[in-house]
Amino acid sequence: MSNRGVRDWVRGAKHVAVLTGAGMSAESGVPTFRDAQTGLWAKFDPQQLATEEAFRANPSMVWDWYAFRREAIAGVQPNAGHRALAEFAKRHPGRLTLITQNVDGLHQRAGSEGVLALHGNIAQDRWLDTPRDCCNADAVAAGSPPCCDRCGNMRRPAVVWFGEALPQLVFAQAEQAARHCDLMLVVGTSGLVYPAAGLARTARGRVAIVNPEPTALDDAADAVLRGTAATVLPQLLED
Ligand code: OAD
Repeated sequence: MSNRGVRDWVRGAKHVAVLTGAGMSAESGVPTFRDAQTGLWAKFDPQQLATEEAFRANPSMVWDWYAFRREAIAGVQPNAGHRALAEFAKRHPGRLTLITQNVDGLHQRAGSEGVLALHGNIAQDRWLDTPRDCCNADAVAAGSPPCCDRCGNMRRPAVVWFGEALPQLVFAQAEQAARHCDLMLVVGTSGLVYPAAGLARTARGRVAIVNPEPTALDDAADAVLRGTAATVLPQLLED
């Protein structure tokens, strides 16, 4: 199947669901997780950085690592792929549901509304433990991490760590979109992390993958387009 063929599927679809992963933002300069040379998990051990146990064991190291990524992300821009998705949704209200595993907020910065962010948002934080009366998010003691100066409850990044549940309502909306779409575009994800990857397998309609490399979801796809997000998406989503 060619890019043109999938573009025709887009044109014919009443409802398009899009599932994005780290490769979506690669051309903006955000590193992926699993690419062999440049991926974050090639350099850092996720068990030491992306679990609640790791945060409790070494809060400042984990907080600082997230603060470093947060700053790096604040310095990059959405790419032509992010923009093509946002512009399509504006031109076709109600036809596209955007589901992302990314925590970088680049879809939102490109102008996409109603993004279903399955893994949270790195720009936000929340309490580690259930907040008590003394915990006031607007008056935390500065620090790494900031914490409640009365009880010591710590702020943590508002992202989903390994072993944690996805935000229930957001995931339910994503499943609903998968079950009702005529076409799902699966862009820039290795398809290895569940339950997010499972959405491509529950998609009711056709599935088209956009990725320069093979993925674990290729067997579920009706079309596999070997290209990058910033080059292929503008082609697929043009009117
Ligand atoms: P991965 O790092 O596992 O996969 C990135 C994918 O992007 C790979 O399949 C690459 O081939 C592809 N890719 C690289 N450059 C690309 C480009 N320019 N255009 C399109 N694709 C490109 O990232 P995810 O699949 O997003 O979880 O990983 C899933 C989850 O694992 C993440 O959300 C994160 C991580 O641990 C949490 O933080 C909870």
